[in-house]
Amino acid sequence: MRPYSDPEGIIGQRAGKDRQTESTFPPRHNPFIDSGDAAYSDDNNQKSEVGTLKVGLIGFGRTGKSVASVLLNSSDTTLEWVIRGSATPGHRSAAECLGVDSNNPATLFGRDELRIDELLERQPVDLIIDFSSSDGIELYAEEAGRRGIAIISAISHYPEERIAQLQALGQHTRILWSPNITLGINFLILAAKILKQIAPDADIEIIEEHFASKPETSGTAKVIAESLDKCSDDIKSIRAGGIVGRHEILFGFPYQTVRLSHESIAREAFGNGVLFAARNLLQREAGFYSMQDLLEPYFYDKAASG
Ligand SMILES: NC(=O)c1ccc[n+]([C@@H]2O[C@H](COP(=O)([O-])OP(=O)(O)OC[C@H]3O[C@@H](n4cnc5c(N)ncnc54)[C@H](OP(=O)(O)O)[C@@H]3O)[C@@H](O)[C@H]2O)c1
Repeated sequence: MRPYSDPEGIIGQRAGKDRQTESTFPPRHNPFIDSGDAAYSDDNNQKSEVGTLKVGLIGFGRTGKSVASVLLNSSDTTLEWVIRGSATPGHRSAAECLGVDSNNPATLFGRDELRIDELLERQPVDLIIDFSSSDGIELYAEEAGRRGIAIISAISHYPEERIAQLQALGQHTRILWSPNITLGINFLILAAKILKQIAPDADIEIIEEHFASKPETSGTAKVIAESLDKCSDDIKSIRAGGIVGRHEILFGFPYQTVRLSHESIAREAFGNGVLFAARNLLQREAGFYSMQDLLEPYFYDKAASG
């Protein structure tokens, strides 16, 4: 893989050599499927401790905090640092801020309090996770590309030029962009696409339910509609009380009805989606991926192997 803006390849080679991603992150250990064994065998059949995937998090707002809490509690990851917009005098640990008992460094910085290249020298990471804003990428894109650091961006909306920037970075490192990163919603979309292929003539309805004060149609429901070639004007929206979020895809057949539904319980679901994405993204070559890309092999490979 050619390093980004590094004609002599020095930084890229060193980062590649130092990176533990390929050799120690456990692709065969999947806590969503496995029993949670805390160790795995590497290629030399040596038992290795998990917890070696070093991550940095951009964004420490409503969602970033929940994601940080999942990362801090995961034995597969070490949260090296967290960057937010505003200054954080004293650079406390994010774990301390969240009241989580963890020995991860999780050092908290404001974006104007550091130089990202210096931080990456001092506290290198394999993966940067972005839950900040559409501008957050300005901080790390160039250095991540140069050093071959993988990126998971969960930013819901990007202008076209930012998407193009991420796609270009995909020539140098692994990039995942997912406007909805929960495993459940992405599973729902893929399952619905398969059912639509099997039964193209079924009536399809998309229903979304959210808390009473949510003004606009759910962005996730629009993504579902687009993926099923439906018009977003056809989405049925229900607004009531404190519903966190529910999406349903209804397939109407003459003699039966199939309902695929997903309900959000807490923001930590985004953190679980990140863990799934990290495990699967780091097994891929450099490129620009969606959650659907990472999920599809689970459907088709398993179906093909019976
Ligand atoms: N893909 C998904 O499934 C998913 C799910 C939920 C949210 N999201 C997306 O995640 C993002 C954050 O959502 P949220 O609800 O957590 O928002 P939020 O509560 O407003 O938090 C945003 C966080 O990002 C920081 N920030 C903003 N701009 C920054 C920049 N340029 N550099 C560094 N840090 C920056 C803020 O710093 P301060 O703390 O100093 O203000 C804050 O910590 C949004 O884009 C949202 O759409 C995606």
